[in-house]
Amino acid sequence: MKVLEAIKAGSKFLKEKNIPTYILDSELLLSKSLKKPREEILINLDQNINKKVLEDFNKYLLRRSKKEPIAYLFGEKEFWSKNFFVNKDTLIPRPETELLVSKLVTIFKKKKIIILDIGTGTGCIIVSLLSELKNSNGMAIDISREAILVAKKNACKFKLSDRIKFLHKPFEELYGKKFDLIVSNPPYIKRKDIKNLSDDIKKFEPKMALDGGNDGLDLIKKIIYKSKKILKINGMLALEIGSEQIKKVSKILIDNKFKINCIIKDYRNNVRCVIAEYK
Ligand SMILES: C[S@@+](CC[C@H](N)C(=O)[O-])C[C@H]1O[C@@H](n2cnc3c(N)ncnc32)[C@H](O)[C@@H]1O
Repeated sequence: MKVLEAIKAGSKFLKEKNIPTYILDSELLLSKSLKKPREEILINLDQNINKKVLEDFNKYLLRRSKKEPIAYLFGEKEFWSKNFFVNKDTLIPRPETELLVSKLVTIFKKKKIIILDIGTGTGCIIVSLLSELKNSNGMAIDISREAILVAKKNACKFKLSDRIKFLHKPFEELYGKKFDLIVSNPPYIKRKDIKNLSDDIKKFEPKMALDGGNDGLDLIKKIIYKSKKILKINGMLALEIGSEQIKKVSKILIDNKFKINCIIKDYRNNVRCVIAEYK
């Protein structure tokens, strides 16, 4: 079989299984099976494929047809132009989170700060920040032991292990340290809305990374209260939030003596991040 035929057959199969991105996914899965970049296989459509590659491709197609995200199939996801290890115990890093990283890099460039990343998951936020803020150091905390293992692997991959301390425990139990910046992309989906998420998310991503309690704000509120105790005066809290949460989150921040510094909108014009200063 040739590359073109395989891509077509794979797309057809995924389309029948209602995978919306069936062509792209078929190309990506074949390129992974061939261990070559997608761009390269697309200019060699006549290339023959051997039996082993075809077997790998079919295995990937089957898993993808059951809605398993490509990032979990490959064990990696690009974020901030770096390939992060991911697995089923970690949320797949999202582009909205890059917007937050980008803003924080602009604010803190050339400064020397201590950062806490609450709910670090793959470590994508703290690793990306520290790869830019060369004079700074960080701490990353997660309630999931498995996530901390992945985050440590990523810190090691990007040679940042000596600048990040990892803690496996609930952030509520963190005492005795003060930070210049606390950043978090916490679980913020309303519990009752989880069942309405796409299968890719609700069947595969960790519940612990999604569930924000009855109103979606459980963790956000707790992070704001905790931050008051562990931020330095004039320290910053940077939160990723759900697209309809800005009003409520702003109120909680202001009621707790934070001054809103900036908000960040996503590509759909929804407010998705808020940065506030503790006064
Ligand atoms: C939405 S994920 C974010 C992962 C990563 N920071 C990112 O942006 O891709 C939230 C993370 O918070 C962690 N988490 C949930 N409750 C926690 C708690 N009480 N203390 C620490 N981490 C918690 C979850 O295990 C999960 O890894």
